[in-house]
Amino acid sequence: MPRLNILTKSDSERLALAELRDDYMRIRSVYAAGIREVDTRLQNLDNEYSFQNRHNPIHHIESRVKTLPSIIKKLQSMNIPVSITNAKKSLHDIAGVRVVCRYVDDIVQIADLLLSQPDISLILKKDYINNPKPNGYRSLHIVVDVPVYMIEGCVYVPVEIQIRTVAMDFWATLEHGIRYKAQEEVPQSIVDELRRCADVITDTDYKMQDIFHALQKVNDKDTEVEVTEDE
Ligand code: GTP
Ligand code: MG
Repeated sequence: MPRLNILTKSDSERLALAELRDDYMRIRSVYAAGIREVDTRLQNLDNEYSFQNRHNPIHHIESRVKTLPSIIKKLQSMNIPVSITNAKKSLHDIAGVRVVCRYVDDIVQIADLLLSQPDISLILKKDYINNPKPNGYRSLHIVVDVPVYMIEGCVYVPVEIQIRTVAMDFWATLEHGIRYKAQEEVPQSIVDELRRCADVITDTDYKMQDIFHALQKVNDKDTEVEVTEDE
């Protein structure tokens, strides 16, 4: 006799997974729209800086919507039952944008410009620049709600924005790779060495900024001289 309405455990697991995938695909486009919204606003600022021939704080922008396997892994690590409803409630980094700036001062400038836009609201801020993580990680993390216009109307989407310098990004990328590749816990000696590297990089980051400011002053003086000579 063929089994008709009786689902085996693996059948029901497959069904649950298919439902989860459908739910994910539905919300994915909304989170992607949130990323596009933030990206457009950042591109607009970037273009204006270029147009005015001013120092351009943004080096580059990266973004991603968290994949379904990552969502499942994170919810499981938080001991939260896996569902898209729970993911929307508990995860604030389903939509993620990373803004890589040139200098440390640029980070606050970009964050302030975004947060001064009246339809963007700040949900969460973690300042790992003034308060670096014990391992040496530095970055400014903000989670903002941005309005996007979908078929059903205006929806506010949370987007996590990580803002860091090229130097901070270099360290974070390599440190993440080392930690991710390690089969077991990273030995304390390597943790200490990574922290020392972070300190050297921080020092260099501020030195590069000082050099930039010093050069700006020289350029400003040259411009003054040119104007006086023209008169
Ligand atoms: P996640 O569960 O990873 O999202 O962390 P969280 O919710 O506690 O938020 P947090 O703001 O601390 O970190 C969010 C993201 O910042 C991470 O997913 C990484 O992309 C980055 N990050 C945070 N800490 C570190 C770190 O120590 N090293 C590196 N390389 N990246 C980090
Ligand atoms: Mg996160």
